[in-house]
Amino acid sequence: MNEKKSIIITDEAIKAQRNIINKIANLNKNKCLKFHIKTYGCQMNVHDSEKLSGMLKEMGYINTKNIEEADIILFNTCCVREHVEIKILSRVSQIKELKTRKPDVIIGICGCMMQEKEIVDKIKNYYPYVDLVFGTHNLFKFPEILLKAIFSDSTVIDIWDDNPNIIENIPIKRADAIKAWIDINYGCNNFCTYCIVPYVRGREKSRRPENILNEIKSLANKGYKEITLLGQNVNSYGNDLHEGITFAKLLYMVNEINGIERIRFMTSHPKDLSDELIFAMRDLGKVCEHLHLPIQSGSNRILKKMNRKYTKESYLEIIDKLRVNIPDIAITTDIIVGFPGETEEDFKETLDLVKKVRYDAAYTFIYSKRSGTPAANMEEQVDKNIKHERLEKLIELQNKISIEKNAELNGKILEVLVEGISKRDKEKLTGRTRTNKIVHFLGKPDLIGNFVNLKIKETKAWTMQGELIQ
Ligand code: 5AD
Ligand code: SF4
Repeated sequence: MNEKKSIIITDEAIKAQRNIINKIANLNKNKCLKFHIKTYGCQMNVHDSEKLSGMLKEMGYINTKNIEEADIILFNTCCVREHVEIKILSRVSQIKELKTRKPDVIIGICGCMMQEKEIVDKIKNYYPYVDLVFGTHNLFKFPEILLKAIFSDSTVIDIWDDNPNIIENIPIKRADAIKAWIDINYGCNNFCTYCIVPYVRGREKSRRPENILNEIKSLANKGYKEITLLGQNVNSYGNDLHEGITFAKLLYMVNEINGIERIRFMTSHPKDLSDELIFAMRDLGKVCEHLHLPIQSGSNRILKKMNRKYTKESYLEIIDKLRVNIPDIAITTDIIVGFPGETEEDFKETLDLVKKVRYDAAYTFIYSKRSGTPAANMEEQVDKNIKHERLEKLIELQNKISIEKNAELNGKILEVLVEGISKRDKEKLTGRTRTNKIVHFLGKPDLIGNFVNLKIKETKAWTMQGELIQ
């Protein structure tokens, strides 16, 4: 009953937006207008920008990399760390000069930062030249908000606290023709004490499996080879559907889709990583041998304060199980240093854990105080200099391990999906191994989109050089 209701609402919602898209497309006829989107933050934001691009394209706008020639400029924002927020606001300040020179340019800000009331108030008071503001829950309403902004002299602001429905069939203009991002669940229920995501992205909502599968089938028909299933915590996919479908079961269904050769996913929460998923990774040929499994800290005391709901020991047990079942698996992680109350002893435990796991790569962060989260009010905030020192030590250790791990691949022959021309060396192509390692090699551009076997010749911490095996 509920499900039916939600489908009707979402269909109507998107139908109304499609009508507005057509209206704007008519207004824009023969005008050759351009848009520029600046995206900050995670892959989910990158994918949201693909949806904004899809809607803009259907409204008759063309993408431009040159902000100076854009008629619409959108900032799709992230609020996970404070310094990124500061950077974004400074970028929005700089745009004032452009808006003064070209008053017809439409400036919009959307994404996670706009779910913070203080930020929206700041925009209202100090950035009056911004034309439109919307949040994460009503991205599908962008055409309607834009239409209002086109005919309004003041800032159009539309922010929703939440949206219980999933809006399907938003037009998407994907940045890539070989690999694609697919949302499988939105929001997060975990409330890690440092993290603002649950407050700005809302509670967990899973897309219906048939919608996910249909989207992937249509990508396969268009020639896509690789897909990455996205969610703040993909491991809890399906819990809210109450139909017995799990993330592992979804992987079995996706694995059946002809044409898709590689399946990736992110992000996984260790507390929800099941044996069923490990066995699915082991048994399903298309699921790649890479897992991003954020640990955040190696100290049980800090993990508890972070509300992570696992211990160092239970995490290491998962790592062992993964390596027994999937011997060549690459494991990457996220680590925060300087969480409130983190002592030298706690930090040493993090270094110790990194040495034990020997990650292929780690994304390392300095703890950033996010107002509204429990950790922001915790006593014993760590001194800035100490945080920086710890970060440096951690990066140094991880780099050494990454270099050693990649060096083990020297001389090996690995399958690589060719993604494009290397940015650094235009003579070379670039692609990724199943374990998500970047390899550059000499080859003709007609190999782009194909699988090749490369002999690894030279390795560094983040990239490798390979030679084509005929
Ligand atoms: N400070 C620093 N890092 C954070 N992350 C999330 N919130 C914060 C914060 N307040 C990191 C976590 C998460 C990654 C996406 O960002 O490591 O896994
Ligand atoms: Fe943030 Fe924790 Fe949810 Fe990840 S699992 S999005 S770190 S609250």
